[in-house]
Amino acid sequence: MPSRFYVTTPIYYINDVPHLGSAYTTIAADVLYRYHRARGDESRFLTGTDEHGLKVQRVADEKGMTPQAYADEISAKFREAWPKLSCFPDDFIRTTEPRHKQWVQDLWKRIAERGDIYLGHYEGLYCVACEGYYTEKELTQPNNLCPVHGKPVEHMKEESYFFRLAKYQQPLLDFYEKNPGFLKPEGRYNELKSFVSGGLEDLSVSRSTFQWGIPVPGDDRHVMFVWFDALSNYYSALTSPDDNSRFWPAVHLLGKDILRFHGCYWPAFLMAAGMEPPAVEFVHGFLTVNGQKMSKSLRNTVHPIALAEAISPTVGADVVRYTLMRAVSFGQDGDFSIADLVQRYSSELGNQLGNLLNRVLPFAETVPEKGPKTALEDKLEAEYPAKAKAAAEAFDAMNPTAALGHIWTILALANEYIDKAAPWVAKKNDAARLGTIVATAVELLEAVSVMIAPVMPNVSAAMREQLGLAVFAGEVGTDAWPFALPARAPGGALSRGTPIFPRFEKEKEAELLARFSSPTEEAARENAANGGAAKADPKVVVAETAKVESSTGTQESALANTESTSAKAESAQAAPREAKAVIQYDDFAKMELRVGLVVSAERVKKKDKLLDLRVDVGDAAPRRIIAGIAKSYAPEQIVGKRVVVLCNLAPREVVKGLVSEGMLLAGGDGDVLKVATLDGELPAGAGVK
Ligand code: MSP
Repeated sequence: MPSRFYVTTPIYYINDVPHLGSAYTTIAADVLYRYHRARGDESRFLTGTDEHGLKVQRVADEKGMTPQAYADEISAKFREAWPKLSCFPDDFIRTTEPRHKQWVQDLWKRIAERGDIYLGHYEGLYCVACEGYYTEKELTQPNNLCPVHGKPVEHMKEESYFFRLAKYQQPLLDFYEKNPGFLKPEGRYNELKSFVSGGLEDLSVSRSTFQWGIPVPGDDRHVMFVWFDALSNYYSALTSPDDNSRFWPAVHLLGKDILRFHGCYWPAFLMAAGMEPPAVEFVHGFLTVNGQKMSKSLRNTVHPIALAEAISPTVGADVVRYTLMRAVSFGQDGDFSIADLVQRYSSELGNQLGNLLNRVLPFAETVPEKGPKTALEDKLEAEYPAKAKAAAEAFDAMNPTAALGHIWTILALANEYIDKAAPWVAKKNDAARLGTIVATAVELLEAVSVMIAPVMPNVSAAMREQLGLAVFAGEVGTDAWPFALPARAPGGALSRGTPIFPRFEKEKEAELLARFSSPTEEAARENAANGGAAKADPKVVVAETAKVESSTGTQESALANTESTSAKAESAQAAPREAKAVIQYDDFAKMELRVGLVVSAERVKKKDKLLDLRVDVGDAAPRRIIAGIAKSYAPEQIVGKRVVVLCNLAPREVVKGLVSEGMLLAGGDGDVLKVATLDGELPAGAGVK
C-alpha cells in the first residue's frame, strides 16, 4: 500500500565544498527517494547546509567576509552540485533562513516552557571542528586530541543553558526497546544503546562566546548550540512555505560519526517538546578513496562531479552513483576506487546491461507478435518474479547494494536466455520463434529499465528511448515496480541507438586512472618510473566474491574449486559485504592466471557440488581441478569451454584422494556460479593478466 516517505541527508557544513563523502549520502537519499516514488509512495527528499557556529565565524573572519556572505557563497555550491549528480531534492534548507530560525526558536520555547531547559555554567574541553564538548575519557591521549578530528581541543568556561538530557535516559531506552527498527544497522543500534545506558548528563545547548548562531529566545547574549539548531532542520523545512508536516516522521540518513547527535539528542529534544521522534535512522559507513582515508587533498582529487563529467556527459553521473551504491555495501565502511569503477563500467554496465540491448534490438524495428512459448520462456517467467521481489525488498530494507545484486542476477538470467534462445538462429528460418524471443527480451528490458531507474535514471531513460518508451517517472498512488514481467503490446517502435556504455578507449581509461586514482607516493614513484600512471593499476579485478565455506574451513573467494554451502553464499548476497583491503599491483601479479581448455569432466561421488575436471593449461599433461560448480554445470556443459585458471595455487586435497592442482575463476552469488571465460579463442596456456 502506498504510504509517505520523507528522506533527509545531514545538512552539510560549509567549511568544505561538496565532495565524495557528502555526495555519497546525498546519492543514497536520492536513490531511496526515487525508489519510493516508483512504488507510488508520496515522497519527499530534503538536504541543505549547516551554516552557524564558531568554525564558520572564524573562516569568514579569515577571509575578510561576513559569515552570511561566506555562507551564501558556499551554500550555493552545494545547491548547484547535487543536480549534476542527478540528485533532485524537493527542498534545500539553510539554517540561516528565517523559516528555520523561527521554528527552532519555537522549539526552544516549547521545551523551556515544559521546564527542560535551565541556565547554568559550563566548563569543559571543546572541539571547534565538532562544535561539541568532550570529557577527558572520550579524548585521544596524550594531549587531549579530538577523537574525530585528531586536533587539540580547547578549554572553555561559559554561562550556558542546559537541556535536561539526563531525564530522558530512561524514556530513550524505552523508546529504543519499543522501536527495534528505529536505528540501522543493528551494530550501530547496539552502540547507541550502550552509550545511552552508560548514563547521560544534561547537555549544554547555548554559547555566549561567539555570536554566529540563532539567538536564544529572551536572552540574546546567547546563541543556540549548533546541533540544537542543525538537527531541527529536519522539521523546520516542513513548516514553510507550505505546511508539509504530514511527512513527519522522517527517515534520516547519516554517517557513523554523527550517530550520537541523531540517535540520542534529537529524539530527546523532540520528546521534550511532546513531538514524535524520527521514524528510522540509517547509519552508513565511511568511504576510503583508492584505499586511502579521505583527506582534504584526496577529496579534491576524486571530485565526484569532475569524475562524472570525465566518464561521460550523458551517463557519467549514473556510473558514479552505481559504483558508490554497488561497490560499498550500504551501512559498512568500504573503498571507492577508480580501477574498480572502470572494471564495473566495462563488465557489469557495458557487457551485462548495455550489451543486452545490442543483442536484442538489431532483430526487430517494432515489438513483434509473440509466437508459441518454449521451456526457455517458461523458465524465465518462473524465475523472474522472485528476483524482482527480492530487489524491492532490499530497497525497502535500505540496502541498495543488495538490490543491485538481485537486479544483476536478472540480467544474468536474461543474457543466459539470449544465449540459449539464439535469436540469430531463429532469424534464419523461424519468424514466429524470433518474435517470441525479441518480445520476451523487450519486456525484460523494460522491467530492468524501471528497476535500475532509482540508481541510474539517465541510463534508464536512454534504454527506454531505444525501447520506444517514455522516461520512467513515479506517480503517487501507483506502484510501478515490475513484480511480474510487463506485457508489451506488439507494434510499438524500437530504435537501436548508440551504445549507452561505449568501450573506453585505452587512452581514456589510462587518463581516468591517472587523473582520479590519487596514487600513494610509492605508486606515484613507480608510475613515474614506468612512464605513466595507468601502468601501476591492475587491469583485471577479481570482483564479486561470495563467501563460500569449504570442507577445510572458510575462504573468501570467487575461485570455485571448493564445495560451496548455498545458504552461506545466499546470505552473503543479501547481507552487506565487507570491502576487502586494497592490494597493490605486486600482490595481483603474484597470481599466475592462464587460459585453460576443459578436456573432460565427471561428477565426484557423494559430493553434489563438485566436478572432477581435466584442464589443459599448456603443461605437458592436463591438470586435475576439483571445482564446486556441479550445481551450475552438467559435466557435458563444461567440456570444451575455455576458462581462466589460477595455476600457482598450492595443490590441495579437496576430497579424500582427489588433489586439486589449481582453481577455476567463477562469479556469482548463491548456488549459481558462472565460470569466467574469455572474449575470443585463445590457446590453452595463454597468460591472463
Ligand atoms: N553538519 C553536520 C550534520 C548536521 S545534520 C543535522 C555534519 N556535516 S558534514 O558535512 O561534516 O558531514 C555530513 C555527512 O557527510 C555526515 O553524514 C558524514 O558522515 C558524511 N561524510 C563525510 N565524510 C565521509 C566519508 N569519508 N565517507 C562517508 N561519509 C562521509 O556532520
